[in-house]
Amino acid sequence: MRGKGLILWLTGLSGAGKTTIARGVECILKERDCLVEVLDGDEIRLYLSQELGFTKEDREINIRRIGYVANLLSRNGIVVIVAAISPYRAIRNEIRIMSENFIEIYVDTPLKVCEARDVKGLYAKARSGQIKNFTAIEDLYEAPINPEIICRTTKESIEECIDKVIAELERRDYILKYTYKTS
Ligand code: ADX
Repeated sequence: MRGKGLILWLTGLSGAGKTTIARGVECILKERDCLVEVLDGDEIRLYLSQELGFTKEDREINIRRIGYVANLLSRNGIVVIVAAISPYRAIRNEIRIMSENFIEIYVDTPLKVCEARDVKGLYAKARSGQIKNFTAIEDLYEAPINPEIICRTTKESIEECIDKVIAELERRDYILKYTYKTS
């Protein structure tokens, strides 16, 4: 295990697969004795950002809050995995600049696929007007221009996406390569 803290920032639409990938990566990193925390958008909104809605201003506060906490943890050697829509490029870049080790992961799942899955039934509600400002329906989503990793969930399985993230962390020397002991 290496004591290097870092932020793995997963961004993408609601239902893109951010949480699933984040939990899979968390699991593997824990097996490798890394200190890991997941900051998941839904959980953060439940425990830390209860008063915030989904206006641009509120989302900005939410993302900056997540970035602040992620920084506190990562500078103490923790691998922080963020899974939040974080739709605005400028705020993500702001957090990148203030972080020592920042890896942006674009979970690239097209709107039509997220909408077809509609795991939480929120896209249907957004289309019928029950939910306002829904990302990619009524509100902006700015995809990263130069993310370190892209997970294309329509072409790659979740396992492949998770392995890709782990391989990139190994390649960048954030974690040691996993080697089997033969003796
Ligand atoms: S963010 O835009 O501020 O980064 P965050 O990731 O915390 O969003 O929360 C997104 C989750 O809130 C979605 O997965 C969905 O479950 C729920 N949600 C409720 N209303 C909205 C909305 N208007 N737009 C997007 N997500 C919403």
